[in-house]
Amino acid sequence: MSSLASSPPSSSSASSSSSLPPSPTSPSASPSLATDGSAKNAAESDHATLSAVPAWPDTHALYERFAALVNQPMRPIRPDAMPKVLRWFDEHCAGSKRLAERAATVIPGGVQHNLAFNHPFPLAIAQARGAHLTDVDGNRYIDFLQAGGPTLLGSNPPAVREAVQALLEDCGPVTGLLHAYEVQLAERVCRHMPGVEMLRMLGSGTEAVMGAVRLARTFTRRQRVIKIGGAYHGWSDQLVYGMRLPKTGRMEATGIPRGATAHTQECLPNDPEALRRLLRWNRLRGGTAAVLLEPFGPESGTRPVHREFNAQVRALCDEFGALLIFDEVVTGFRAGLGGAQAYFGVTPDLTVLGKCLTGGYPMAGAIGGKREIMMSLVGGIGTTSRRAFVGGTLSANPLSCVAGYHALLEAERTNAPGVAARAGERLRRGLEEIIGRRGLPYVAYNIGSIVHLQTSGVLLLDTSSLWKLFRLKDEARRRKHMMEEMGAAFTAHGLISVAGSRLYTSLADTDEVIDDALNRFDDVMALT
Ligand SMILES: Cc1ncc(COP(=O)(O)O)c(C=O)c1O
Repeated sequence: MSSLASSPPSSSSASSSSSLPPSPTSPSASPSLATDGSAKNAAESDHATLSAVPAWPDTHALYERFAALVNQPMRPIRPDAMPKVLRWFDEHCAGSKRLAERAATVIPGGVQHNLAFNHPFPLAIAQARGAHLTDVDGNRYIDFLQAGGPTLLGSNPPAVREAVQALLEDCGPVTGLLHAYEVQLAERVCRHMPGVEMLRMLGSGTEAVMGAVRLARTFTRRQRVIKIGGAYHGWSDQLVYGMRLPKTGRMEATGIPRGATAHTQECLPNDPEALRRLLRWNRLRGGTAAVLLEPFGPESGTRPVHREFNAQVRALCDEFGALLIFDEVVTGFRAGLGGAQAYFGVTPDLTVLGKCLTGGYPMAGAIGGKREIMMSLVGGIGTTSRRAFVGGTLSANPLSCVAGYHALLEAERTNAPGVAARAGERLRRGLEEIIGRRGLPYVAYNIGSIVHLQTSGVLLLDTSSLWKLFRLKDEARRRKHMMEEMGAAFTAHGLISVAGSRLYTSLADTDEVIDDALNRFDDVMALT
């Protein structure tokens, strides 16, 4: 690939799953229904050892740097450099451009993923392997999007693919009846996650959040749900509320009736006193069914929580009789096989899983939790008990379950969360060095394998009151555009990011891959 980067493109030997040691297990399509050694009490010691967050960032210092970033003028790609970046796409991505134009006639906006890079037009990918993506024009990129998070092992790892292929030969992707892999995946998750005694698979993280909220309402017989403002919990009617930016309430709730969000409330992150006030207020009006949060902080730690926040929320939930729901769609298995709950030593009542749960294969969603609560999700046509109704024709299909099970085995065998976290540390350290050397206001930090690179700070604007929100509208638009331009410049230098501001690392990110990436980031930052 001829990228804008002055450093040479990474060699294929630096990738990817092919450089991983071979799997000792030969996947079978018809696993025996072994108990898997998964009884919770048999594996209690796993939880402590499987965290992949070597150090929690100094969040107080980070918030000072965020404030400094958004209180000074933006530092975008220079106006004289941006045309060169955009020219790169015209000169090197003709195939993607053609496909994007066709897509725009049959797909709204020509793109179906909300995190997809689409400035100046979406790239069409032909090959994904390990740490790299290759587009239809043959350009090769280092992949820090990692499909939005699920491919902790890197893209398309052979150990998972071979197990999936074997299953497809024997029973195809779906039967609608019980399959051994459903049981084995559930056993595996229960073994690792302290708060998961039982698991119910669903079709996506969004579905699982909806189900968890319904389950909490069923169990507590209460209505109100408090989320931490700015968090993303999928696109269900009730949770497109206070999304991405705290205290923005129904700002994005287009097409959603007021009644759908009438029992959703939000609280600022890191403000246990405000949460207490809301819980107290709710107690006088029928109580709170659940507090729902992303345990690293809204938007995968874009606004990171202080180390003690989750424990404070746990204590408040106990005091007010609300269930605590951890949305571990991102942190599930990335934070370690025990999730963020094992890292923090805080056990939620319910856990929502997605993404890594099925190793990057479709239908990634599940609710896990305490047995007495989970029993209100009893499935099947014979049940007469009071239950929270959830379901899905394709949920818990053998394809998703075989992929998830073998992805988890592979993650255990290779310590993928730990290896990915080390790559995240290396990437963050390198980014900090570049930022410091070039005197830029940007902020780089990581929580294990989730690396944040705040250049425009658009998601860090202070929107904590209506007045501030109104005042910052234009500023937010400008900063969002800057983030898009940064994303485009990264791409033109062979780097795919999550919307220009987040980087997921994986097992496939060797030191060589990370160092190659850092050279490219340095080239981009030279253009600012
Ligand atoms: C924390 C969190 N919860 C829920 C979801 C929704 O999951 P899905 O996209 O599978 O519906 C996401 C998706 O990015 C997420 O990051």
